[in-house]
Amino acid sequence: MRITNQELSRRRFMKTALAGGMTAIASTGSWESAAAMLAVPVGRSVNGVGIDDPELVQLSINENPLGASPHAIEAVAHKMFSLNRYPPREPVLHEAIAKYHVNDGISIDMVATGVGSTEILKAIGMLAMIDGGNVIEPVPGYGAVSGVASTLGREPIRIPLTEDLQTDLNTVKDAVNSETRIVIFTNPNNPTGQLIPYTDLVAFLDSVPESVIVCVDEAYIHFVGDTSYRNMVGLTKTRKNLFVARTMSKAFGLGGMRVGYGIGHPELISRVRPHLLGWLGRSVLGDVASIAALGDRQHLQDVRTHVSREKEYLYQALTELGLKPVKTETIFVIADMGRNTEPFIQELAARKVLIRQAFGMDNYIRISTGTHTENEILIEVMKEVMSKGV
Ligand SMILES: Cc1ncc(COP(=O)(O)O)c(C=O)c1O
Repeated sequence: MRITNQELSRRRFMKTALAGGMTAIASTGSWESAAAMLAVPVGRSVNGVGIDDPELVQLSINENPLGASPHAIEAVAHKMFSLNRYPPREPVLHEAIAKYHVNDGISIDMVATGVGSTEILKAIGMLAMIDGGNVIEPVPGYGAVSGVASTLGREPIRIPLTEDLQTDLNTVKDAVNSETRIVIFTNPNNPTGQLIPYTDLVAFLDSVPESVIVCVDEAYIHFVGDTSYRNMVGLTKTRKNLFVARTMSKAFGLGGMRVGYGIGHPELISRVRPHLLGWLGRSVLGDVASIAALGDRQHLQDVRTHVSREKEYLYQALTELGLKPVKTETIFVIADMGRNTEPFIQELAARKVLIRQAFGMDNYIRISTGTHTENEILIEVMKEVMSKGV
């Protein structure tokens, strides 16, 4: 039998590992006994997907509770002996992204990739504001593009949401002036989880001059309940000032891989590229994981189904606890506690349950959807802390 390079590498890897620290473990017999030797007695068993601490309930940073697509994990495993290699210069990832958006007619010259959508948002903000001007953002909002304005020493124009947490598009439109270079919408929004209707966004686009970039951050778009909701990607072919940011970190479960992308008219993309790291900002593993994840529609659907089911569980459980949860179109839930939530959040953290305050909304907690076990533990611990009057 011909031994492939991969098999050779695997054998070398095992040999080296066994010659090192793993020898003692291996010689005691089975892998089970080795695992038992390493196991620390735990107070509770959560074993969140991808979390080393078996007790930790991590629900504060909107991670995918089911993990990445098995195809992505397999693709990474196949590439683990290529860590010495630079990523391919060829736009393989761009091709996979264009293919994912094939129904919208997206070509690779309409795609830019970045180190998470964080890099993408920073780059579009830089492009828009480097020569002066400003950003308008409804608040509370995610704030990444407004952050660029602050870095450049300019004050972002912040337009408060309405009482019922909706984006006031008329007020945003009225705030646009000759200095405005970019308007950013996070849709659905973080931290409120609310969605701007498609037709309202199109009307907004119609109402601003083409010199104003309209950036729509669709980080959570896969979790929108109404599956007929039209995203903004399809409009980028005809709207030269529309830029859509997407991430592989949420629905695709690749937060640790740091891959995001932007979609826009080829002219806009060619202007944003100089502000991005480009191929040296990509990684061998991030590329293959993303390509595999984009191709796994079943996993995406499983994630959506799980999140929507668990959000229903959380809405009900939080209501039973006397809180006022808000229905969201994202991976997280928010709930009004009627008082500043920071002390409560600290008490949960002391019990290894991590949630956060919905930024800019002192009375609200924001909970990322976990596995069912994680969500149940969260509710139990919340009950315990609330019974102490915190
Ligand atoms: C609305 C929104 N946009 C962008 C990001 C950045 O994500 P990443 O850099 O992992 O793509 C986040 C992360 O939580 C987010 O909530």
